[in-house]
Amino acid sequence: MSAADRARQAFAEAFGGQPEGIWAAPGRVNVIGEHTDYNEGFVLPVALPHTTRAAVARRDDGLVALVSAQHPGDRVELPVAELAPGRPDGWAGYPAGVVDVLRDRVPGGVSVLVDGDVPAGMGLSSSAALSCSVALALRDLAAPELAVADLVDVARRAENDFVGAPTGILDQSASLLCTAGHALFLDTRDRGSEQVPLDLRAAGLELLVVDTGTTHDHATGGYGDRRRECEQATERLGVRALRDVPDVAALAPLDDGTPEGGVLLRRARHIVTENARVLEVVRILRETADPAAIGPVLTAGHASLRDDFEISTVELDTAVATALEAGATGARMVGGGFGGSAVVLVDAGRTGTVARAITDRFAQRGFAPPRAFAVVPAAGARRLA
Ligand code: GLA
Repeated sequence: MSAADRARQAFAEAFGGQPEGIWAAPGRVNVIGEHTDYNEGFVLPVALPHTTRAAVARRDDGLVALVSAQHPGDRVELPVAELAPGRPDGWAGYPAGVVDVLRDRVPGGVSVLVDGDVPAGMGLSSSAALSCSVALALRDLAAPELAVADLVDVARRAENDFVGAPTGILDQSASLLCTAGHALFLDTRDRGSEQVPLDLRAAGLELLVVDTGTTHDHATGGYGDRRRECEQATERLGVRALRDVPDVAALAPLDDGTPEGGVLLRRARHIVTENARVLEVVRILRETADPAAIGPVLTAGHASLRDDFEISTVELDTAVATALEAGATGARMVGGGFGGSAVVLVDAGRTGTVARAITDRFAQRGFAPPRAFAVVPAAGARRLA
């Protein structure tokens, strides 16, 4: 049975009727450009083949009814008028947040069944897949004048204002705007974007996602701290955004000899060097026939996230170091940090060796078994039926 048919059937079981349509939105893996999005910088994500499907129908009783195949028994039903930040919370907060942003368009309410296979809490943007699938559905059904690019902000507002996770626009842009076979080079300041061809297989390479099994939650803790530190550095430097800092030398004023100044210097240095890495990777992909050359740039990105931004974990560092020892071309942690996944660029013939080396090392160190899978750049959000 196709994913669309499964969603249709689950919708019928949950709500006793047919959906008006079925939409899918993918998770993402970011090739490079981490934590640059809320600093008005550059990102370069690809969409995953893994998606969330949303089967949706409008109602006429004013209720939002939400069911997830991944959380059976956890049915949420409340009047549209009673949606408020944190109510509902958990997985339901994402689709509810989208309905809340577009509440004028669905005054009669809406039934939503979601079914997805993007691993949750692994730095692969399962939350964006969830909110973007519902945003595209509501656009097609009730807000046709909105462009897909407008939905980036609908989904971001759901996440920022309703769920309370202070994220940027990387994940939502990737889920909505990526195309198969390409990485999305996005300037998060002016939203200009370019689809950069990324055919790793033709170059004999594979992009391996290594899920370390350690989860994160961006609504709490470290992610918000990093965002605040970047804001403080921006203020002290007197620039509009860290994007505007031309080079590392221009960060010198942050280094005032205090521990706090040292922290801000390191955080800002990550952003400045990471923006340069995005531009370098895009240059390599555009101008050379050698995508393997991006490997060392990815590895440098990991060192920066580990040492300057300080958001890696022992599991992520172990995965990256082991991949490189086993012959990978490049490796780095991906996403918001404090857990989640690493991405490894590797010669196709070595994928098995690298994956085994990581699994063995994790076992030796007493970590939970990692899960590795190869990905090719897949399509962004779309209507399935
Ligand atoms: C999370 C956020 C994004 C972005 C990344 C880090 O995925 O949702 O907005 O900041 O972390 O690059």
